[in-house]
Amino acid sequence: MKLSNLIAPSIQGVSHPLLEEKALRLMVSRQDLLHPKISGNKWYKLKHNIAHAKANGAHRLVSFGGAYSNHLHALAYAGQLYDLDTIGLVRGEIVSPLNPTLQDAVDWGMQLIAVSRSEYRRRNEADFLEQLIRPFEPCYVIPEGGANLLAVKGCAEIAQDIEHQVDCFDYLCVPCGTGATLAGLVSGLTSRQTKVLGFCALKGLRDLEEKVTQLLSLNDYDSGVPWQVIHAYHCGGFARVSPELIQFMDRWQEFSDIPLEPIYTGKMMFGLFQLIEQNYFFPGSCIVAIHTGGLQGLRGMCEKLERYRRQIEVPR
Ligand SMILES: Cc1ncc(COP(=O)(O)O)c(C=O)c1O
Repeated sequence: MKLSNLIAPSIQGVSHPLLEEKALRLMVSRQDLLHPKISGNKWYKLKHNIAHAKANGAHRLVSFGGAYSNHLHALAYAGQLYDLDTIGLVRGEIVSPLNPTLQDAVDWGMQLIAVSRSEYRRRNEADFLEQLIRPFEPCYVIPEGGANLLAVKGCAEIAQDIEHQVDCFDYLCVPCGTGATLAGLVSGLTSRQTKVLGFCALKGLRDLEEKVTQLLSLNDYDSGVPWQVIHAYHCGGFARVSPELIQFMDRWQEFSDIPLEPIYTGKMMFGLFQLIEQNYFFPGSCIVAIHTGGLQGLRGMCEKLERYRRQIEVPR
């Protein structure tokens, strides 16, 4: 499955006095620049799913996500591109006027259906899922966040591309939600000298390791490459921000032109710099961090971020 206008993601170095002090090299794999509409890991998670759906004669894709979901946004665009109907089952109310993420999705032809939060929680129960998707049958269902084995297969390609671009690196960092991208990176790496670090964007997701292990155990995806999930930098939970995160992101802009968003890539970079300060990495290490995109979500966050900034400025 090919996407036109694909830009081969570049590797961009980061300079900062802390990196010099600790004798570390940090590079960012700019997967956010992959495509103007489908950025980062989203395309890798979708590409084999779309090919599989098409090969099996599907005309309609159904998936799940929150109101700012990068995944639903990308799916809607891919559906339009590959002439597939798309249905987005959205967690909670769909507020009118639509936010920019959902407005794009509708403009690209996605039909949005609101699913109450209590029902949404049951989306992985087989009987309930069957009931939910019955009105849209026949259809091809992609789980929330696109997280299935075909997504793992796609994300393995990110690791392979980076191995072609960078000779030797000790750590590969990625933000985590469902863990499918992390599993893909582990399965795609060939060098066991590299450790994959996943920075979890959600609070209390203690079964994430189990989910990643499960994905790796299927299809023989476990390459034996070491990996670890870091849970300490969710900054309050999914789509929440902390004053420390905002301050870090503001400082980041002073030394790097790489745009971050606060839901995934900002938290990963914040966590990474905290670990660097804590001497987690051996001097001389080379770290590659993956920018997984998601910058479209910033449009819905700007107001919230400004509110937090004002709170930070007002002394209590
Ligand atoms: C920008 C961004 N980064 C990281 C992730 C986390 O990926 P995963 O759910 O595969 O762990 C997502 C979710 O798909 C995302 O949208």
